[in-house]
Amino acid sequence: MRRQNRLKSLSWAAIALGMSYSAYSQTSLKSAYQKDFLIGTALGTSHIEERNETANQLIKREFNAITAENIMKSEVIHPEINRYNFDPADKFVEYGQKNNMYIVGHTLVWHSQLPRFVSKINSPDSVRLFMTEHIKTVAGRYAGKINSWDVVNEALNEDGTLRKSVFLNKLGEGYLKEAFDLAAKADPKAALYYNDYNIEQPAKRKGAIELIKKLQASGTKIDGVGIQGHWSINTLNLKVIEDAIVEFSQLGLKVAFTELDLTVLPNPWDLRGADVNQNFEGSPKMNPYTAGLPDSVQVTLAQKYEDLFKLFLKHKDKISRVTFWGVNDGHSWLNGFPIRGRTNYPLLFDREFKPKLAYKSVLELKAAK
Ligand code: XIL
Repeated sequence: MRRQNRLKSLSWAAIALGMSYSAYSQTSLKSAYQKDFLIGTALGTSHIEERNETANQLIKREFNAITAENIMKSEVIHPEINRYNFDPADKFVEYGQKNNMYIVGHTLVWHSQLPRFVSKINSPDSVRLFMTEHIKTVAGRYAGKINSWDVVNEALNEDGTLRKSVFLNKLGEGYLKEAFDLAAKADPKAALYYNDYNIEQPAKRKGAIELIKKLQASGTKIDGVGIQGHWSINTLNLKVIEDAIVEFSQLGLKVAFTELDLTVLPNPWDLRGADVNQNFEGSPKMNPYTAGLPDSVQVTLAQKYEDLFKLFLKHKDKISRVTFWGVNDGHSWLNGFPIRGRTNYPLLFDREFKPKLAYKSVLELKAAK
């Protein structure tokens, strides 16, 4: 309670003063959390190409891990059956190497953002050939340079059963083992992760644990679980997150939070009969903060981030990395998902790249130690 009051009074002062980045120039996220876990961000093409110097300085200053937001997904890196587009990924890896960052490849096997030719493949053998060549070529090219791969992304349904993707449909559940084994062979040094959203939730978590146990029992190398962490300030559930950290680490795996963001906007799926794109696009009710984030919500966001990082610190021995899904609010995919054209505020830096109250609350957790 006292802490809450302190945070609130700080917040009003900070908001009234208009926080500037230089106010925090004494430290940074990555240095504050240096002994605990890596602090990462997802990079888009403009970041990799260093188009905006303010963004560039911020990335280099605050983060020591980077994930490719889109450019290593198969639709980008492998657009045609016999053609790869390595240029953006090469630049991404160079950027990380140049800045001594932990480099995360995202992702080798995923049902989404697949190249068009994959949907035309019919025979299981051809799907296997695609997957095999893809992993060999992509993971092989960056072998020794990528620190960690999200080998398989989002293979599970909410109830913990396997998602009916092209990989499951054509190859059966053995595709997971095949994918991890191929990745281990192509890049023996990279840490290999299974990555998914909502796997902290009990049913999906149970499915993930079963899947991982099977992989382990068959001798497959898997080093960690990536919990994406696309959460909401309205429904954040620390208990399930804590249970997930503990249970996954009991499998002998590291836990990473790989795509952290906290939406502040109403969720269309909470409304009965919501048709995500048609009914709510352009609706002020679903996009309430176009003129700026009210102070009260700013404070809630800061509080939720504080609670979350407190939990992460409690389990720092089990956590390898916490990566934000984007550099600043303007960049976040949540401005376009699940409803296009909204104004969201899910990250620690605002549209002007200034640190938000949430940044301060995350940093102060360490200062208080
Ligand atoms: C998102 C990107 O942020 C967007 O730019 C893109 O349009 C769609 O994909 N889970 C994942 C990420 O594993 O790759 C997704 O990234 C967000 C959800």
